[in-house]
Amino acid sequence: MTVRKRRILVLMHETLVPPESLEGYTDKEINEWATEYDVLAGLQKLGHDVYQLAVGDDVHVIREAITEIKPHIVVNQLVHFHGIAQYDQHVVSYLELLGQAYTGCNPKGLTLCRDKALSKMLLAHYGIGVPKFAVYRLKQRITPPDGLKYPMVVKSVAEEASLGITQASVVSNEQRLKERIEFMRDSYAVDVIVEEYIHGRELYVGVIGNRRLISYPVWELPFENLGEGVLPIATERLKWDVNFQKRHKIETHRARDLDPLLERRIGRICKQIYRVLGITGYARIDLRLAEDGSVFVLEANPNPDLKFGEDFAESAEAYGHSYPDLLERILQLGMNYSAQQRRRARA
Ligand SMILES: Nc1ncnc2c1ncn2[C@@H]1O[C@H](COP(=O)(O)OP(=O)(O)O)[C@@H](O)[C@H]1O
Ligand SMILES: [Mg+2]
Repeated sequence: MTVRKRRILVLMHETLVPPESLEGYTDKEINEWATEYDVLAGLQKLGHDVYQLAVGDDVHVIREAITEIKPHIVVNQLVHFHGIAQYDQHVVSYLELLGQAYTGCNPKGLTLCRDKALSKMLLAHYGIGVPKFAVYRLKQRITPPDGLKYPMVVKSVAEEASLGITQASVVSNEQRLKERIEFMRDSYAVDVIVEEYIHGRELYVGVIGNRRLISYPVWELPFENLGEGVLPIATERLKWDVNFQKRHKIETHRARDLDPLLERRIGRICKQIYRVLGITGYARIDLRLAEDGSVFVLEANPNPDLKFGEDFAESAEAYGHSYPDLLERILQLGMNYSAQQRRRARA
């Protein structure tokens, strides 16, 4: 792939600005800002002029940096703004209004995916398998959901990164359900979604593209080392605690023993999900594969973690897109989206 040297501005959360070198830091510390470190290093290695901007709660700094640096493209590594997850789409809208090309998903795709209930309604409309669900807004009275079977999973409608997800998130009776909904609302001030628990394998599928899409090989989060009596779910601890991951040998890998036909079907379903939800750039779709081969979507994650060695980059590599190649493709998709968007806006 030929690389044209570009001026790039990388937007990142002010708490996640990486140091120049990894030396002297523990695995746990590195894990915090490893993505930002890898992305910056990867873009530099490609030969681009890379600038970085720490973003907190002020959009003006973004505009100032864009005016000063005049980047060909902004690499968007923000997943919230001012600590509010739903605001990530607004930053991207702001970039679009400034006529600034950026990487990753457009505002509409971010908005649709951010809401785990809205996205499931849309997907269900197209016949894509989703767990049955009910929503409990912050102050709404809690009555048992109609037509849902236990066990159920209680989670935030809009937050991500397994926020508040522990073994207690899976409930098997009305009392526990009520307690957990209240716990989530009291602890995090969030609207809550309750879903039927899907027994099965946990699969992650990377998809990349704007119009022509590629789905990467299916990845799996294995649960077999969790031990007896532990529910196979991606809790907050499992996702973020590096010591826990080491202790239980939790490492995602290419899904083994998947029938090639099934793997192809999963790829097709994931591309359809990507299109229905209006995603551009790149995304990771979280799925559950039930024993009988039916596929259920848990959620679509636009702008998934780009850390080197993480599921998305690993599955890209397995497909044949090495890490630098992946970063370069993401830049090009951002440039193309922006050019099309501007043409459409003027037409
Ligand atoms: N309906 C469900 N059935 C089975 N497991 C679920 C379900 N919903 C969530 N989980 C478990 O909880 C994890 C986090 O849920 P997810 O909807 O992906 O939220 P997040 O945005 O926090 O990643 C999943 O990876 C899965 O292990
Ligand atoms: Mg998830």
